[in-house]
Amino acid sequence: MTKNFYITTPIYYPSGKPHMGHAYSSIVADIFARFKRLQGENVLFLTGTDEHGQKIQKEAKKNNMDPKNFCDEISETFRSLTKKLNLSNNDFIRTTEKRHYKSVIEIWNRLVKSGDIYLDKYSGWYSVSDEAFYDEDEIENKGDTKISKLSGSTVEWVEEESYFFKLSTWSDKLLNVYKKDQNFILPSSRRNEVIKFVEKGLKDLSISRTSFTWGIPVPGNEKHVIYVWLDALTNYISALNFPDEKDKKFINFWPADIHIIGKDILRFHAVFWPAFLLAAKLPLPKRIFSHGWILSDDKKMSKSLGNILDPLEIIDKYGIDQLRYYLVKEVSLGNDGSISMINLKNCINNDLANNYGNLCQRVFSFIKKNCNNKIPINQKLKIEDQQFLKSLKEKLPNLIDLMNNQNLNEYIKMVVGFSFEANKYFNDSEPWSVKKNDPIRMNEIIFTISDQIKNISILLNPIIPDATKKVLNTMNISLDNIKLDMVNNLEIFNQNKELKDLNILFTKIEDDN
Ligand code: MSP
Repeated sequence: MTKNFYITTPIYYPSGKPHMGHAYSSIVADIFARFKRLQGENVLFLTGTDEHGQKIQKEAKKNNMDPKNFCDEISETFRSLTKKLNLSNNDFIRTTEKRHYKSVIEIWNRLVKSGDIYLDKYSGWYSVSDEAFYDEDEIENKGDTKISKLSGSTVEWVEEESYFFKLSTWSDKLLNVYKKDQNFILPSSRRNEVIKFVEKGLKDLSISRTSFTWGIPVPGNEKHVIYVWLDALTNYISALNFPDEKDKKFINFWPADIHIIGKDILRFHAVFWPAFLLAAKLPLPKRIFSHGWILSDDKKMSKSLGNILDPLEIIDKYGIDQLRYYLVKEVSLGNDGSISMINLKNCINNDLANNYGNLCQRVFSFIKKNCNNKIPINQKLKIEDQQFLKSLKEKLPNLIDLMNNQNLNEYIKMVVGFSFEANKYFNDSEPWSVKKNDPIRMNEIIFTISDQIKNISILLNPIIPDATKKVLNTMNISLDNIKLDMVNNLEIFNQNKELKDLNILFTKIEDDN
């Protein structure tokens, strides 16, 4: 039976145009989704926009727009970003949709029913930009204003009637969850952070607001709107048609296999979300993986800091595969990482143009010139050829393991290493020298290197889907059904078909570009 796999990105605030941090969360999730499809699993990959709350209401007002129209407009830019980033998401959820509304109301009602909600008054600090409540010890002075120590965003004093969720009663159960499954929160440094936070003791959480209206009204008391994080987190099950727990989607895909998020929203996902689910008597997601921040000049890229590197500009100038590859190669997943134009250029030139791109291009032009433009298949391979191919095939279980543990950087390093070795194999075997006196040897070499190009392309496909598809297409390999086990298949090439033309895969970037 085909295994199901459910992976999500955070849903993005449509408060401004998408930036590199959003692109990063999405690209990382897309790579894992694509890899699972290569493994033959039935993947549901969800992304979307988080449209309620004070932050959006404020932003809409600033733009003299009604919040719904404002969201319609900006949500569309996020939807088109999914195309630009070449995401393979099967769904895009908006929290202003009916299917979501229904699901949030049901969660609320379940929390009421379980006795986890009570009405009281909230007085404390709130950051509109983070949509988060902060304790006194989590804020500090900055000039005349108070800011959150965690995010640096401005906080304001809030005093209003509010419904509370009895988060304090869930500490022990949450700690048990973290203890029972060491991989529930990854990387482990983040897991430790969460454990420390929960061990300090949790306070009850304010889960409704009365000072603005842009949200889902609390059932039975419409003066209140539901706290945007309770609303937003529920998207992960709204997309599965919750509350219909008999729905096929819900049965097949809940609990989610992994939520990919940034470290700034860890607390919401690793503490609040599991507590809500436990109270609503629903299974917990299997893993929460938190990536670090993309830094520019060693600072978090953010609208308020004005240091945004625009992903769309980079895509237009250099290409989407280039951006995808660069982000995940350069930034070690789980840690913060700085990006810069200089590094982007080096990465494109060295890894993509000189290594993988060059390998494909020189082998294909050799085939065109010397082999009637057809891959000479069914050759009896020499021991050294077999050995060369074996080194990759033998590593396949390790590569799968690396991806299943979100060890993306090691995975890329290994695959790029194979591409480097393949260039070396081609150089050292010198098919151009043997072609006159030993055409059979030439054919063996070309068959071997073609197979390795196919293998490397399959392994790189989740990361650079466009370029690898072009390469596989050149070799007449069907694009719709690329699977990981094709790596072990030497009989995949079509004997009678000529190679298709391949334009330059990656243009080298000159210094003044
Ligand atoms: N709407 C919430 C998420 C709700 S999920 C139920 C939210 N939205 S966001 O638009 O502010 O951020 C979404 C994601 O982008 C987060 O994972 C965040 O970590 C990521 N990034 C935003 N800026 C970032 C960087 N500079 N670097 C890396 N990722 C960061 O939070």
